[in-house]
Amino acid sequence: MPHSLGCLWVVVVVLWMTAFTPVTAQYLTDAQVSVVGQRLAEGASHRRVLPLQISRLSDHDLAAGSTARALKFFWIPPPQQIPPNLTGALSDVFSIAHTIVANRSISNGNVTGPQPLIQDSSAGDPASIGVAVLLANWTGQSASDGLDYAGAARDQLQFLLQKAPKTPDGAISHRLDQVQLWSDSVYMVPPFLAYYGVTTDNLTLLQEAYTQISLYRTYLRDASANNLWKHIQLGSYGTDNGHWSTGNAWAAAGMIRVLGTIQRSRFAGSLQQQQEDLASWIQEIHGGMYQHQDPSGLFYNYADNKSTFLDASSTALLASTVYRLSLLSGVHTHLPEAEFARKRLSSPNGTSGLLHFTPDGWLTPVADPYAYPFQGQDSPEGEAFVISMQAAWRDWVAAGAVGVNVASRTMDMTASAYVLSALMVAFNVVLCFVQM
Ligand SMILES: *[C@@H]1O[C@H](CO)[C@@H](O)[C@H](O)[C@H]1NC(C)=O
Ligand SMILES: *[C@@H]1O[C@H](CO)[C@@H](O)[C@H](O)[C@H]1NC(C)=O
Ligand SMILES: *[C@@H]1O[C@H](CO)[C@@H](O)[C@H](O)[C@H]1NC(C)=O
Ligand SMILES: *[C@@H]1O[C@H](CO)[C@@H](O)[C@H](O)[C@H]1NC(C)=O
Ligand SMILES: *[C@@H]1O[C@H](CO)[C@@H](O)[C@H](O)[C@H]1NC(C)=O
Ligand SMILES: *[C@@H]1O[C@H](CO)[C@@H](O)[C@H](O)[C@H]1NC(C)=O
Ligand SMILES: *[C@@H]1O[C@H](CO)[C@@H](O)[C@H](O)[C@H]1NC(C)=O
Repeated sequence: MPHSLGCLWVVVVVLWMTAFTPVTAQYLTDAQVSVVGQRLAEGASHRRVLPLQISRLSDHDLAAGSTARALKFFWIPPPQQIPPNLTGALSDVFSIAHTIVANRSISNGNVTGPQPLIQDSSAGDPASIGVAVLLANWTGQSASDGLDYAGAARDQLQFLLQKAPKTPDGAISHRLDQVQLWSDSVYMVPPFLAYYGVTTDNLTLLQEAYTQISLYRTYLRDASANNLWKHIQLGSYGTDNGHWSTGNAWAAAGMIRVLGTIQRSRFAGSLQQQQEDLASWIQEIHGGMYQHQDPSGLFYNYADNKSTFLDASSTALLASTVYRLSLLSGVHTHLPEAEFARKRLSSPNGTSGLLHFTPDGWLTPVADPYAYPFQGQDSPEGEAFVISMQAAWRDWVAAGAVGVNVASRTMDMTASAYVLSALMVAFNVVLCFVQM
């Protein structure tokens, strides 16, 4: 090689490095997350999203207090006296619980007995609001507004156990008009059952939360696709055999909430095997999903189908479950992929703005939350998932970022690219001087 060519290589490689060295932001700032939270609040009037708003708002506001302890507050039976520094954070949660329970009495003429908290075409979704209702009961909100939160939660529970359609082996249907199982439901129903179990000191209900997950896994796990979960099974219409990324993330996120609830309950010792199973089933989904992570850091809307669009929302939600699993079970395997995804979702776009957020603060690109096969805009779910990811990541960092060495040992793709580039530069510099 003539020496001029060797030197030219140095120039080319240095230019290449410069061009591909993003000024990578490592995290979203509080101000950026706050804008995301505002978009969520505005977009969350749709029923399907209301449940999300409850857990997400609290995740976010509690995380803003920046203690891992604060988040646990939402999971374990909390103190019956709310500490003054958490009153503000929880006021949104109580306000939603109040609206739901007050409206229930008005719209059903004070009828009690098995019934969902809101009228919906889904048998499962309304239950997810129940966690807020249980918390309102536990902390004595009825003393100030006279609403029967315990009764409303009990009616919702009885509806699930006695009225909702079920498979012959007992899996509670996601839909009301036919027996049909959706991966989404793992987030909506079992966390309510588990939380009901701890607030009423009832082991059977914690068991039932686990059993529902186990049944859903039996129907939805696709062993021929490296354990990715199918989206929708059973029923006379609406089946979806595809491996919807958000559905896989919903399932993992529902499991992690149940795992966290069991772990912090007084029944933890009696439910050892169940905790091990949940941790391993979450890892199963992580293993299936992260195989298909795109070099952009994102998942396709259907994880193993590159003909579908890239979807930042499932990417954010699944990353949140990786940090949580690391915290709860000491499993650090997929931290490198989660860190890679999180950093990509936090990347700047040129000198102003963010690569994966519109100027208004909406995550992009995202699945349409009301028509999952299609790409959409302005997804409140996506906003909620970003806050989940950020809250989980902060808790993980606050707890010492344990397992981060797994991340640095394996390195993310950007880091590998830097090392490769550095080696190429070194090689070419040597080549250049040797030939001069
Ligand atoms: C609230 O105050 C208590 C001490 O009273 C403290 O331990 C806790 O970390 C605080 N929580 C938040 C979210 O600031
Ligand atoms: C109250 O209930 C009625 C009847 O079910 C429903 O149409 C309305 O949307 C509900 N309002 C709220 C704020 O949930
Ligand atoms: C429901 O109960 C409330 C409070 O007791 C009462 O004001 C209201 O009139 C009742 N509604 C019906 C339809 O009975
Ligand atoms: C309601 O809260 C009380 C404690 O304030 C608790 O004893 C009871 O079990 C709770 N009920 C439900 C349904 O969570
Ligand atoms: C636990 O909850 C189930 C379902 O509501 C109920 O049948 C059972 O009696 C409860 N067990 C205890 C010990 O309260
Ligand atoms: C992949 O997605 C494309 C676009 O939605 C669809 O037409 C195709 O049937 C999908 N392939 C599989 C194997 O599901
Ligand atoms: C990123 O910047 C490019 C060029 O300025 C712009 O076309 C694109 O819309 C921006 N992306 C987002 C998500 O704002």
